[in-house]
Amino acid sequence: MSDKNFETEAIRNQMERSRFQEHSTPLYLTSSFVFEDAEEMRAAFSEENERNIYSRFSNPNTTEFTDKVVQMEGAEAGYAFATGMAAVFSTFAALLSSGDHIVSARSVFGSTHTLFTKYFPKWQIETSYFDINNPDEIEPLITPATKILYAESPTNPGVDIIDLELLGNIAKKHNLLLVIDNCFATPYIQQPIKFGADLVIHSATKLMDGQGRVLGGVVVGKAELVREIYLFSRNTGPALSPFNAWVLSKSLETLAVRVEKHCENALKVAEFLESHEKIEKVKYPFLVSHPQYEIAIKQMKLGGNIIAVEVKGGLEAGRNFLNALKMCSLSANLGDTRTIVTHPASTTHSKLSSEEQLAAGITPGLVRISVGLEHFEDIIQDIDDALRC
Ligand SMILES: Cc1ncc(COP(=O)(O)O)c(C=O)c1O
Repeated sequence: MSDKNFETEAIRNQMERSRFQEHSTPLYLTSSFVFEDAEEMRAAFSEENERNIYSRFSNPNTTEFTDKVVQMEGAEAGYAFATGMAAVFSTFAALLSSGDHIVSARSVFGSTHTLFTKYFPKWQIETSYFDINNPDEIEPLITPATKILYAESPTNPGVDIIDLELLGNIAKKHNLLLVIDNCFATPYIQQPIKFGADLVIHSATKLMDGQGRVLGGVVVGKAELVREIYLFSRNTGPALSPFNAWVLSKSLETLAVRVEKHCENALKVAEFLESHEKIEKVKYPFLVSHPQYEIAIKQMKLGGNIIAVEVKGGLEAGRNFLNALKMCSLSANLGDTRTIVTHPASTTHSKLSSEEQLAAGITPGLVRISVGLEHFEDIIQDIDDALRC
């Protein structure tokens, strides 16, 4: 455990300098690494010597990025992936066998939901869902076959919050692995391991990059679990590229200042929307009106940068609002410097049936706003102009 603060570690937790004594981390764009002799190569493959062999297994840049996330989340170990979905899929695939069972929150990212409903059943891995706003539903779903308890908090796109401490206690009581997708919060805001999570997953594509440039994913947590995930990934090949790792590692140096500003802007935008005559409902974790506000302030340092809003007039009004925006971008990403507005029912969560969407809190008129780093007055102006069109 380091005695330094989050911001300092994010900047100073850096790989060893090369003989050139560079100040900024160099990019090691190499597929493989060289050995002095056959014995050194044998020892590396048998893991007697910990060193880089081939960039599908590890690379100095992916290791630096992973080490930073491990440090930030208070984890023991980690492994980095090409995308957040590669991290989600590889975690389940590495740890589960045919006949195992998952208990998951119903409101999870669309592709994660598709994995649970379309692909895992092909390997006899079934999932049961609980309502994130009703954790009493969790325990009755647990069977002797249940291995993993899974949730996002805040959720995508409804920004619902679940009590992580409660999940940690349930997982412990029933001997389940608790896996949390911490993408919307980032480790600057919330560290699920403190509440009992065994593994924490991130789409690094979002606030970790924070500038809409590269895709990436990472899993951190207990060393013995990460080792299984590493071995699976080493053989199946979803590794993060060294270039993207280099970009992401540099991005983490500014995570704290960026997230602070994102959250400051988001709170101002959420407060503005709450009093807007064209808005039916606003959900933002740090608004007192959020149904799980008390839990949010207990486990989160800040409210995040995502706001879920319901425009008065439903689907039609929501689409008109999107079409009238002049500055905010219509894009599939989130956590960018640019404010991004999406309509989850017709985009990120369109593979869910209308019933599944409603059960996950995705109403036809729901709009997700990922508040960026533009000046908050300009974001509010663009949103207000579009709502009044
Ligand atoms: C909560 C959450 N988890 C996982 C993912 C998947 O990440 P990626 O797009 O990097 O594969 C996303 C993407 O939006 C997400 O929002």
